[in-house]
Formats: sequence, structure tokens, C-alpha cells
Amino acid sequence: MKVHHSLAAAVLASALILPTAAPALAAQHQAPRPPGIEKQDTLRWVAPNDLKIGTAVAGGGHHETQPYPAPFPNDREYLQHLAAEFSSVSPENQLKWEFVHPERDTYRFAEMDAIVEFAQENKQVVRGHTLFWHSQNPAWLEEGDFSKEELRAILKDHIQTVVGRYAGKIQQWDVANEIFNDNGTLRTTDNIWIRELGPEIIADAFRWAHEADPKAKLFFNDYGVESVNAKSNAYLELIPRLQAQGVPVDGFAIQGHLSTRYGFPGDLRTNLQRFDDLGLETAITEIDVRMDVAAGTQPTAAQLEKQASYYQRALDACIAVEECNSFTIWGFTDKYSWVPVFFSGEGEATVMWNDFTRKPAYYALQESLEQASPGRGNR
Ligand code: G3I
Repeated sequence: MKVHHSLAAAVLASALILPTAAPALAAQHQAPRPPGIEKQDTLRWVAPNDLKIGTAVAGGGHHETQPYPAPFPNDREYLQHLAAEFSSVSPENQLKWEFVHPERDTYRFAEMDAIVEFAQENKQVVRGHTLFWHSQNPAWLEEGDFSKEELRAILKDHIQTVVGRYAGKIQQWDVANEIFNDNGTLRTTDNIWIRELGPEIIADAFRWAHEADPKAKLFFNDYGVESVNAKSNAYLELIPRLQAQGVPVDGFAIQGHLSTRYGFPGDLRTNLQRFDDLGLETAITEIDVRMDVAAGTQPTAAQLEKQASYYQRALDACIAVEECNSFTIWGFTDKYSWVPVFFSGEGEATVMWNDFTRKPAYYALQESLEQASPGRGNR
């Protein structure tokens, strides 16, 4: 890891103790609204009561190779928008195994503790991401020489320790992330847990999470499941089968990493609805809409309109489905987006520019939220 414990302690301290640059934040543990932004002019304010509007909280992952300090909690303007606009937050990387459990006997909770504290002070719920994944696992785990019994104990200890630490403070957990291949077969090769312990371990992960926090809502989460397709069909088959065995699965979450290169997944609402029909909660958990933008150029007005329509149609699909209660964007400003780091020649995927000014996509979300709850903005 690039950030060590001494730095982690400093990160926590700077979140909670008065730093000279951000007295108001520390004094109240609360970020003031950004200058010029009225309370009524924010996404969380105009959203219907039963719909959380969320964002990933930038940190870890690609941020560690970028030439800026950790955005949370160092970028004061970022924190102001984070608090003002959103009623839900998701750690972008701070709860992934490699980050939170960097050595077998070491947990690193400082960053996540600071996010949870920020969320509580700003009346935000938290989505936990993630407990069971094929990616971003630490080398000690992936390269270790463990027996099946040891691996099982390691997973159980991790889930109970992490979920238990935040019991009552995390509303929804992405317990299992991306367990299927695109063709709807389980990831039996690259997911260490499924490969070594068999598919039955998925049920245990949910059971252990439920034991550690009986009130948290437990989700499957994946990309490429916006539409009715082999992968989403695999979840539609798996989840009721697990529930029939008494496994505590509460919801199905669709990430939503979209690109204007491809058409909008027009059956998103239909797809969400068929999970809703099973009695499940649903959520959009990681939406962004990337565009082809050559280095040094700006997206055209037409590109921005297309991006806005993708965001809006995704939100409208969620609003139209009864138990779609959470709509999260994977970062709200291009300043910190993972997209250009990962996709060469693509970017500008979020709803705000680098300087936090709003794109057409922001206003499209605002418009749909206002239409879903007329008059809330005038309370
Ligand atoms: O692990 C390598 C390391 O070996 C190498 O030295 C280093 C140098 O670049 O890169 C490390 O990988 C980075 C990884 O984070 C682990 O820290 C990648 O470059 C970096 O791109 C990666 O970024 C994160 C990515 O997940 C990893 O999958 C992003 O910050 C994060 O936004 C992104 O989030 C995921 C969700 O969790 C799940 N759904 C998809 C979403 C977007 O990929």
C-alpha cells in the first residue's frame, strides 16, 4: 500500500481535528454549503424522501497514483459539495480488502471511520463496498498458501470484523461483487473464494454479514447487468434459490458504468422491475457515463446532452420502480474520476466539471428528482 499507518492516522486526525485550512469543517464536523449554493438547490433536497442520492467518496485505488492529496478529507471544496448534494456515500476503495485489510493480522480502519463519521454528521447513509470480490485483494491473500479451512476462517473473520465494526452505521452492503462472468457462469477461476471453497461460500458470506449486522440490507452488485441478459438472468435465478434456503439476501444492485459509445440500455427499468417483482430492493450503485474526448479537447454540446440523457433515463428507471431506493453516482466531479485513468481517450464521465460547476447531466438529474417530488425544492 502506498499510504501507511502513520499517514492513515494523520488522515483521520485531519478529518476530525481542527486543520488550519478548514476550521468550519472541524468545528462542526460538518461541511458548510458551497458558496452560492442554496440548500434548496441540491440533489438531496429535491429528491423524494424514499430515494437516497449517493456518490462514491474518492480515495484509494487510482487516486494513490495521481498527483494530488487524498481527496477525502483534504479537498475542502470537494467536502462541501459531498455534504451538500448527497444523502448517501459509498467508499470508492476504502473498504476493499487490499485497503482495509492490508496484512493478515492488520486492519486499517482510519479512512473508513472518518467517512462514517462525516456521513453521520451530515445525515447521510452509507453503502458498504465490498466483502467478497475477485479484484483488489491483498497479495498476502491471493498469493498465500492457505488450506480451505484457513481460507474460510479468514473470510468469516474479515466479514464479521468489518461489518461488525460499522453495525448500525452502514445501511446497505455490497456483500458479493461481480461474481458472474458476462455469459452468466460463476467466476470460478478469478474469484479466490468460489475457486477454492466452491459456490456454497456465497451463501455463507451473506449469513456472516447478517449475523454481524442484522439490520443492514445485503446486496449482490455487478456491472453489465443493466439489461435483461445472461448475467442478469443468472442473478434472477440465483437470488430466489438462495432465499429459498433461508440465505439473507435483500437486494440486487446494478452498477451502471455507461458509455455514450454504446446505446442506452433501454430495458433497464424492465430489468429492475423483474427483481422488484421478486420482493427485492434494487439500487443503482456506481453510475457514470463516459465520453470519447481526445486529450486537450472539450466534449461537444451534443455529447453533453447525450450524457445528460443517459443519466436522466437511468434515474427515471430507478424512480419508476417501487423498491429502487438508492441511486449512486461513481464520483461527482471529473477532478477525481477513475475513468480517464482507466480508459485512454475517454473521460468527463461525471456530473460536475473539475471546478465543481454543473454539467447538463447534473441539471438532468435535478429535473427528474423535482418531477418525482414536485414542490420539495420550495419547502
Ligand atoms: O493493483 C495495482 C498495482 O499493482 C499497481 O502498482 C498500481 C499502479 O497503477 O495499480 C494498482 O491497481 C489500481 C487499483 O485501483 C488498485 O489500487 C488501478 O491502477 C486503479 O485503476 C484501480 O482503481 C479502482 C478500481 O475500482 C479497481 O478495480 C478505482 O479507484 C475505483 O473507482 C474502481 O471502482 C470499481 C468498483 O469498486 C467496482 N465496480 C467497478 C468500479 C470501476 O472500476
